[in-house]
Amino acid sequence: VKHFTTLNDLSNEEIYHLIEKALQYKHGEINNNFHEHYAINCFFEDSTRTHKSFEMAERKLGMQVMDFQPSTSSIRKGESLYDTIMTLQSIGVDLIVIRHSQEDFYKKLISSPNLTSSIINGGDGAGQHPSQSLLDLMTIYEEFGTFKDLKIAVAGDLSHSRVAKSNVQILNRLGAEVFYTGPKEWLDPSFGIYGEYAKIDELARKVDVMMLLRVQHERHIEKDKIFSKEEYLEKYGLTIERENTMKKSAIIMHPAPVNRGVEIASQLVESKRSRIFTQMKNGVYARMAIIDSVIN
Ligand code: CP
Repeated sequence: VKHFTTLNDLSNEEIYHLIEKALQYKHGEINNNFHEHYAINCFFEDSTRTHKSFEMAERKLGMQVMDFQPSTSSIRKGESLYDTIMTLQSIGVDLIVIRHSQEDFYKKLISSPNLTSSIINGGDGAGQHPSQSLLDLMTIYEEFGTFKDLKIAVAGDLSHSRVAKSNVQILNRLGAEVFYTGPKEWLDPSFGIYGEYAKIDELARKVDVMMLLRVQHERHIEKDKIFSKEEYLEKYGLTIERENTMKKSAIIMHPAPVNRGVEIASQLVESKRSRIFTQMKNGVYARMAIIDSVIN
């Protein structure tokens, strides 16, 4: 593929191929040196993991990595995203990772006949976060060796999460049994197509994967501000009591950053069944596989 903007357009076979490639990078079974390629990471929204793990992936692949700060760029003089990308392409950048608050920002760019650089979506508003989805899939596959018949719950701030939407759709397509839970006020009707709603107490007891979502305070408008931290954890979060009821083999996932004490009891972040830091580590290898697939 020339660009990587959504997982929805990829076949199951292509998704498995990316997961296998990411695992091969993790195990040192493949080694590539793309030293003739120039990469730039344009993050118009805040990020620690996605930004820095793309940079780590690019450096591990031997690429030349350039810095870009929106706050000191000509975006501040009114230059458009399109003209910014064309500028970077003109000076010789061939891989551009973009995170932007505008949903589907990449559609205009990749439909332009003038674009020759590769675009990777590092997150588009409340739309998609395909590199996060891939590292989540990689982490589940690495743990269980399959998606088929796994019971997977996605829990929390569903309507604001760009991770949840693509994950439920793809996990369902790969054969997992998907469940969702969270406050009724933050549900998105589209989840019903791919999974079944259940209360978190019931899901804690039966799932193989409890995938928690961050409460996205920054995207909440006044009507969404309906819980205190403590109320949210008690009603909808993973408390110690709920974790105690989980199956022995079950794992906890969270894309992070984590609101400790809101969607998850703080001690559980580093608990034995938490794969939160494994997800971050896998993110580097998943992103190496993505970069490899767009520039090779
Ligand atoms: N999971 C994730 O996207 O984290 P960042 O916002 O820090 O990149």
